[in-house]
Amino acid sequence: MNNEQESQEIYRPSAEVIAQANVKSYEEMARWAERDLEGFWAAQAEQFTWFQRWNKVLDDSNKPFYRWFTGAKTNIVYNCLDRHLTTWRRNKLALIWEGENGDLRTFSYHALHREVCRFANVLRSMGVRKGDRVTIYMGRVPELPIAMLACAKIGAIHSVVYGGFSVEALHGRIEDSQSNVCITCDGSFMNGKIVELKRIMDEALKRSPTVEHVIVFKRTGHDVPMEQGRDYWWHELMALPITRAAPGSNRNDTEILDAEDPLFMLYTSGTTGKPKAILHTHGGYTVGVGTTLRAVFDLKEEDRWWCAADPGWITGHSYIVYGPLLLGATSFMYEGAPTYPYPNRWWSMVEKYGINVLYCAPTAIRGLMRFGEAWPNRHDLSSLRLLGTVGEPINPEAWRWYYRVIGRERCPIMDTWWQTETGMFMITPLPVMDLKPGSATRPFPGVQADVVDEQGQPVAPGEEGYLVLKTPWPAMLRTIYRDPDRYVQQYWSKYPGMYFTGDSARKDKDGYFWIIGRVDDVIKVSGYRLGTAEIESALVSHPAVAEAAAIGLPHEVKGNAIHAYVILKAGQEPSDALAETLKAHVGHELGPIARPEKITFVPQLPKTRSGKIMRRVLRARALGLPEGDVTTLEE
Ligand code: WTA
Repeated sequence: MNNEQESQEIYRPSAEVIAQANVKSYEEMARWAERDLEGFWAAQAEQFTWFQRWNKVLDDSNKPFYRWFTGAKTNIVYNCLDRHLTTWRRNKLALIWEGENGDLRTFSYHALHREVCRFANVLRSMGVRKGDRVTIYMGRVPELPIAMLACAKIGAIHSVVYGGFSVEALHGRIEDSQSNVCITCDGSFMNGKIVELKRIMDEALKRSPTVEHVIVFKRTGHDVPMEQGRDYWWHELMALPITRAAPGSNRNDTEILDAEDPLFMLYTSGTTGKPKAILHTHGGYTVGVGTTLRAVFDLKEEDRWWCAADPGWITGHSYIVYGPLLLGATSFMYEGAPTYPYPNRWWSMVEKYGINVLYCAPTAIRGLMRFGEAWPNRHDLSSLRLLGTVGEPINPEAWRWYYRVIGRERCPIMDTWWQTETGMFMITPLPVMDLKPGSATRPFPGVQADVVDEQGQPVAPGEEGYLVLKTPWPAMLRTIYRDPDRYVQQYWSKYPGMYFTGDSARKDKDGYFWIIGRVDDVIKVSGYRLGTAEIESALVSHPAVAEAAAIGLPHEVKGNAIHAYVILKAGQEPSDALAETLKAHVGHELGPIARPEKITFVPQLPKTRSGKIMRRVLRARALGLPEGDVTTLEE
């Protein structure tokens, strides 16, 4: 289907959706923000508590190192927890959690706050101080958000590493962050099996002697080695008298921070083998995340919100942990696989907990769609009011299925485009807007996005180009941790004054954006972001491999699947068995999500004269497409 045909298919919101929308007019809000960007964001910031007000909303005196709400004092945890305790929300459920094995745990705002305070004391007693980095590598258990919030409460910087990553990926991230304390679980449940988190952590730490302490939350109860003097059980530390400080004791106080003090870093894959640590701060992130969640997903006090991402990715940081708590909402979190033990697991939980808003990745929808409509049709999904997607383009077929079968044609779908770097939704519908399946629609008020050509000039409607952002926004990344040059070079050098997203897109005649995909060496597999260079370096770490190139090729469920081309060392014979060994090797080094779908042994790789692998050419060949400009090709 071409763009023009796609644009013809329009879904209008019902009168009911419009009547209850938190934002009644996109145009009005967008015009306000365009007229007065700082005034607009200042007004949004009024929803939150500041210990001291800002002098300036946006300080752009040192571009592209923008600063927001300078001079203000705050702490995101005060806004997420403390301030709700003096209201009726103290008794409201903050978090409902279901384990893969059916375990159920709930936390009121009071209870969550208490756990966070106790764990903050544990961290303080271990010597963690403001500005220190703490690596968190856990399964999807309530203790993961508790650990994050406890770090933020005392001004430490958390670095969460996705629990599906493995030894090499974890090791590199611990090293780069220079963490002294790590937090993990004995294991986590996934698809009825145990993921050996603690053992992976132990392996990763063999080469990281700077880590002094490891705190281990007991989830599975299976036997894991504990190193005397380094490893401690979470529950034992929490039972120590120091953590029973009376309420109001100084030891529980939320650290008063600068709006620009760092909140967390989150590693994401880029164009080199070394993942980059995206740095976010307390003040602007609070305002950006809280504002977008309220406007886009229209959360109401009575709502139960379910963001089915993993807290280990930006989606989980912004919209499982911080966003819902900022709004005083009730958030649901599920530990395991969507199809365990049967493909109705998600739908049974929507029914059981009365979920009102569901936000997930297109890959999950495509995966569940394959099992047929009978599974969701067995359940009462009438509590749902709004749906959402994120992480990759959603194909119109999956969009329509989600709309018809899950939303029963009542629930608008918010297709939100954003990135680890942006921290918040950037191109997204609001519930009152007309929708076109497959389009993330229009920039959030205050955001100016455009599609430009190689020279940075806007392209005509319907034409493909590079997606750029032309205004700063409060939840934007501030830098790459310990690598400000790379921050400038990566995001602000291609076009002066514009943020380069790394995505290609089209804008149609109505100003709706259609995201096409990455134009750099990043592959989106099932919505997860992986760098080709990371996969390649995992491959060449195997003794049989001389050289490797990884590309993404279209895949029906995953969006993209990894295909690797491998040159073997002299004396090595290509075989199916060796291909399987190499796949398993990448899985072991980086994690199951990075495991290549297919490995092809080749005698040579297309390269530029300077020796850079031309992945673009490999992709074109695999897809039978023209190879494009190959003047620099030397095979
Ligand atoms: C892609 C995830 C199409 C895009 C929040 C972006 C999307 C990258 C969408 C960032 C969407 C995210 N439609 N593509 N709605 N949302 N993407 O950092 O390529 O894991 O640049 O952040 O995901 O991935 P990240």
